[in-house]
Amino acid sequence: RAEMVINGSSSPTVADRSNESIKHHDRPVPSKWRHNQTLSLKIRKHILKFLDAEKDISVLKGTLKPGDIIHYVFDRDSTMNVSQNLYALLPRTSPLKGKHFRTCAIVGNSGILLNSSCGQEIDAHSFVIRCNLAPVQEYTRDVGSKTDLVTMNPSVIQRAFEDLVNDTWREKLLQRLHSLNGSILWIPAFMAKGGKERVEWVNELILKHHINVRTAYPSLRLLHAVRGYWLTNKVYIKRPTTGLLMYTLATRFCNRIYLYGFWPFPRDQDQNPVKYHYYDSLKYGYTSQTSPHTMPLEFKALKTLHQQGALKLTVGQCE
Ligand code: CTP
Repeated sequence: RAEMVINGSSSPTVADRSNESIKHHDRPVPSKWRHNQTLSLKIRKHILKFLDAEKDISVLKGTLKPGDIIHYVFDRDSTMNVSQNLYALLPRTSPLKGKHFRTCAIVGNSGILLNSSCGQEIDAHSFVIRCNLAPVQEYTRDVGSKTDLVTMNPSVIQRAFEDLVNDTWREKLLQRLHSLNGSILWIPAFMAKGGKERVEWVNELILKHHINVRTAYPSLRLLHAVRGYWLTNKVYIKRPTTGLLMYTLATRFCNRIYLYGFWPFPRDQDQNPVKYHYYDSLKYGYTSQTSPHTMPLEFKALKTLHQQGALKLTVGQCE
């Protein structure tokens, strides 16, 4: 597989022609990617009109108290009470306060990472963001291991940790959390009512076992703000994926942004099958009409940004 490095040429590209499949003859001609600093700064400035990653990355202690009632972002009729544990884990100041990084890696979870040998390159970035507690230990050669921020949708507890039905699964989650070793654990706790207990279980484990993570719980306005930014730019997404959310946030504090593991297609550029996730057997139906996401559309937007030099998208092997 070749690394997809394309500059802004006039020839139509794969994502322009098809959202779902990549054909042989659509393979872009590789050429040198160059960072476009001016464009990156422009994007940062534009996104700041919609959200401020420093603030929106987490609700802070000062703004809530135990017992406060919150309406879920996607289930407005359902509410949750701010528990003592959640309150205890709210940060006092933004975990990104005043932060600036030369280069950031955002690691998506596509199977395109398998056999990529990108681990070393990923780990060399100043700040590494991963999604949904994706495992790294068995895959370091391809995905690296450095983790500065990792997201955790509450559904992961069900999908990857069997809803902690027994001690074995609880232990597995505990080990994963312990391995985070001081990084930021970003939990969208206020999005959908389905995650209520799962967030509480994780909060309880963190406190009970004194796990060394810096928890963050995104603001209620973040998702709408991110969607608003992309809609304004004519990227008609339904609900931003974690990956797109992370890119949007990263523009605030990263000078150069490198994306790995973003490939929402069942075949690679050589028509070889690609797993949906590098680490499990989840299938592609997940990105169908019924999914709240529009990943191929997001991918197309990210690819355009790659072509313009605002970010670098790696969808093949690293050197
Ligand atoms: N991703 C991708 N191609 C895939 C799988 C994932 O581009 N085949 C990207 C998406 O941006 C996604 C991110 O990697 O948000 C993390 O993957 P995953 O954990 O699967 O996200 P989901 O839980 O499926 O979606 P979300 O968390 O966004 O609801």
